[in-house]
Amino acid sequence: MEMDMSKHRVLEKLRGSDDFVSGESISEILGISRAAVWKNVKLLRQEGYVISSKTNRGYKLEAEPDILETEKIAAAANCVIAGIHCCASVDSTNNELKKMALEGAAEGTVLIADHQTAGRGRFGRSFVSPKSRGIYMSILLKPESVADIAGLTCMTAVAICKAIKKVIDVEPDIKWPNDVLLGGKKVCGILTELSAEGESGEIRYVVVGIGVNVNHRTEDFPKELRDIAGSLYMTGGETVDRNVLAGQLISSVLNMYMNINTERSEYMDEYRRRCVTLGKTVEFYMENRSFMGEVKEIEEDGALVVRLEDGQRHVIRFGEVSIVN
Ligand code: BTN
Repeated sequence: MEMDMSKHRVLEKLRGSDDFVSGESISEILGISRAAVWKNVKLLRQEGYVISSKTNRGYKLEAEPDILETEKIAAAANCVIAGIHCCASVDSTNNELKKMALEGAAEGTVLIADHQTAGRGRFGRSFVSPKSRGIYMSILLKPESVADIAGLTCMTAVAICKAIKKVIDVEPDIKWPNDVLLGGKKVCGILTELSAEGESGEIRYVVVGIGVNVNHRTEDFPKELRDIAGSLYMTGGETVDRNVLAGQLISSVLNMYMNINTERSEYMDEYRRRCVTLGKTVEFYMENRSFMGEVKEIEEDGALVVRLEDGQRHVIRFGEVSIVN
């Protein structure tokens, strides 16, 4: 039996019991020597599994490391998923998933990394992605037309809020267009990128990138972000199981996406309820000039309707605004 395979099966045996399991019984059931059982226990310990051992009693799994694992994520998701790929480190999950899309990956394929060396945010900014703290994931979608894209990021923001609510029982807010906030601090950002054919406008693929600050401590953020960035851990005071949250995030996004054409207005109602930008005075830049106005409405496609200081109505479809009051 290959070492990796037997390690996995030893782990399954230990997981299957709340008490000690004898090395002898593991070796008999798996058909490997007791020395091989011991070797696998050592390998598992090196990976961060806490396994105690007692003479005449065997081994007991005391704690598991915080590793993103496909099986655990799939078990926490309640929907069928084309494929979940976990990796230790990539430059950006959006970049990697785009490559997979070009190689023919199916709609619904998900790529999750434990760490990003060049995580990207909107407007070419970087997205801080420390190892073992967050969920850095991209989901591949293939909507039929450009019309389906409208509101996709709003839908994703709502889906993320629902998943967070399920896992840590708090009600996140949304800052237009798609920052997810807890206690006024950003805990999640979304970067949606697409490839379309110029002539026909036909969509080749959409990559929805989601970065959640899950178990980040203050010191995980650079000083300049500490006033504006938060995490689920910093809100609830407890470490969050990233596999469970990842599973909930994926199913929340995919289930909502499947119904986007029939349920768009419900999604947008929830978006408006959560959106802290609605009703506020905002400042934004257009053609190098600053403007101020009051946010009166959010349209069905997510556009912001602002009444400017001179009374004119202005619709903002892209970009960002800062809340003044
Ligand atoms: C933003 O806040 O401006 C958007 C941040 C989006 C970050 C996620 S993390 C996973 C995916 N890969 C990236 O490089 N970016 C997105």
